[in-house]
Amino acid sequence: MSAPAPTILVFDSGLGGLTVFRETVPLRPDARFVYVADDAGFPYGRLSEAELSERVVSILGALIGTHSPDLVVIACNTASTLVLSRLRERFAVPFVGTVPAIKPACAASQTRLVSVLGTEATVAREYTRKLIADFGQGCDVTLVGSRRLAVLAEALLRGEAVDDADIADEILPCFIERGGLRTDTVVLACTHYPLLNGQLTRLAPWPVTFVDPAPAIARRVVDLLGPRPEGAADGSSDFLTTSGQSPHPALAEGLIPFGFRQPSRV
Ligand code: DGL
Repeated sequence: MSAPAPTILVFDSGLGGLTVFRETVPLRPDARFVYVADDAGFPYGRLSEAELSERVVSILGALIGTHSPDLVVIACNTASTLVLSRLRERFAVPFVGTVPAIKPACAASQTRLVSVLGTEATVAREYTRKLIADFGQGCDVTLVGSRRLAVLAEALLRGEAVDDADIADEILPCFIERGGLRTDTVVLACTHYPLLNGQLTRLAPWPVTFVDPAPAIARRVVDLLGPRPEGAADGSSDFLTTSGQSPHPALAEGLIPFGFRQPSRV
């Protein structure tokens, strides 16, 4: 008899984690997914470290108690760069975090000018600075903290009008020209930003590679849990929010690949 399908909990402050979720589901379509948006705490980029740390540990404690996941994906850079080690100390379940993809970005850059676009909190973290020191490979790395991009991404997904100029203002500091060279690689260090892929490409002053870590995170999940056993039946996905509010239905159709059920409160 084959092992029961695993339960995978995917956690973010809002809808950004869906960029990780949508890469993970096709690799383990038999799993029972529980996606949790802590929308009552959104945006995390504006919470103090103490506030965020307490909040995430306490919500995860409750979720682990209720859902007994086999693995938890913290699909949020702002949380992972702060509380991942605390979560691992506190809970026995394996955690996969999402942290800025500085190593692959610096390895791939030809011009050696790399930018890291994240929330103001993520780019200020000691963790992020250490990733650059350890894996920057001599690249000139520019940290760009965006105050509004995650909020703009959520607004756009809800169907609200968002000005291109507002998105452009947030991303322009990533584009550096120095000594006849230009930035060629931008790390998307917030899971909300790949939701704006089309806008980012269109509004970039010149073409760059935007590095989205989601496919690598999905592969890491499979490394830890193993691949889908042959013949396993399709799983399910539940969507929970801390506010109890549902996202726009059109959004669910586009981003949640299968088995979407109406959200319920954490
Ligand atoms: N999606 C989140 C991240 O990866 C956080 C956005 C926010 O809540 O400010 O950092």
